[in-house]
Amino acid sequence: MGARWLPLTLLSIFCGAGCCLQITGIKAPRLVLTGERVHLSCSFRLDGDTLYSLTWWKDDKIFYRFIPKSSPPGAVFPLPGITVDERISSLHQVTLSQVDHRASGKLRCEVLGDSPNFEQDTMDSNITVIAKPESGPSLTGVQGPYTVGHLLLVNCSSPFSYPPTTLTWHINGHQASHATVVQYPGKTDGEGLEASWSGLHMCLQKEHFQEGVLVLRCTASILNVYKKSSQVTIFDSRYEGSDPPEGESTAGRGTSVATQLLSVLLFSLAAT
Ligand SMILES: *[C@@H]1O[C@H](CO)[C@@H](O)[C@H](O)[C@H]1NC(C)=O
Ligand SMILES: *[C@@H]1O[C@H](CO)[C@@H](O)[C@H](O)[C@H]1NC(C)=O
Repeated sequence: MGARWLPLTLLSIFCGAGCCLQITGIKAPRLVLTGERVHLSCSFRLDGDTLYSLTWWKDDKIFYRFIPKSSPPGAVFPLPGITVDERISSLHQVTLSQVDHRASGKLRCEVLGDSPNFEQDTMDSNITVIAKPESGPSLTGVQGPYTVGHLLLVNCSSPFSYPPTTLTWHINGHQASHATVVQYPGKTDGEGLEASWSGLHMCLQKEHFQEGVLVLRCTASILNVYKKSSQVTIFDSRYEGSDPPEGESTAGRGTSVATQLLSVLLFSLAAT
């Protein structure tokens, strides 16, 4: 292939201004989800030239080429993450029946004119194919009893995704300061998916407990596409309580504190 394309590329360098064939636009989504169908199109002007070929590349590898003079004119080259639907792909639109995260990267449309000028033009577009994690983040390491002066060490992990999720912590609804957060290196699988991992290290202060309760939340997100949280409620084991709510006896409350009531609530915030 190199031997064939090199002279064409060199020739196009010497073809000066005022030339003709030109790509006028490329249509490709910037952000899609794994499994989605993707339509790509590339418009161009010939201005008197004759088209030799239109080629689609993903990071320097060809996945589709259309040569009007060939029979059949369209040819598909399999690439990881890219499945071209050959039946409905042609010069003006290429359809990927499904994509996965490995299709993320630089898409390039290249148009070549025929002899004698062998004009060439290219245009690029970036695509990110998001693979959501299979489940929301999980919190580990919560081991009561806790009270003022104790060290709280909690980890939050989010399963494999692409790109990796960003993990953020909230303490009683307020974002945790960077000083309390430890970012651990993520794990990568063989296919480029990444799991993320973050820790929260803090010395519990009086102000962390509101009426004896501290709510810790870890949120995993990917751009504006994915967002899920896990939450844990931690009770101050020494909390005496103020005015118990009506119908609840002080004794009842004391008992529940004594049993180190620790509840884990998991909830999901659906992505918008
Ligand atoms: C694509 O992404 C690369 C690397 O992030 C960046 O340098 C380039 O400008 C982007 N190209 C387009 C067309 O957005
Ligand atoms: C949190 O994760 C780190 C890194 O894997 C580990 O060393 C640490 O023991 C974990 N802490 C807890 C409380 O689980």
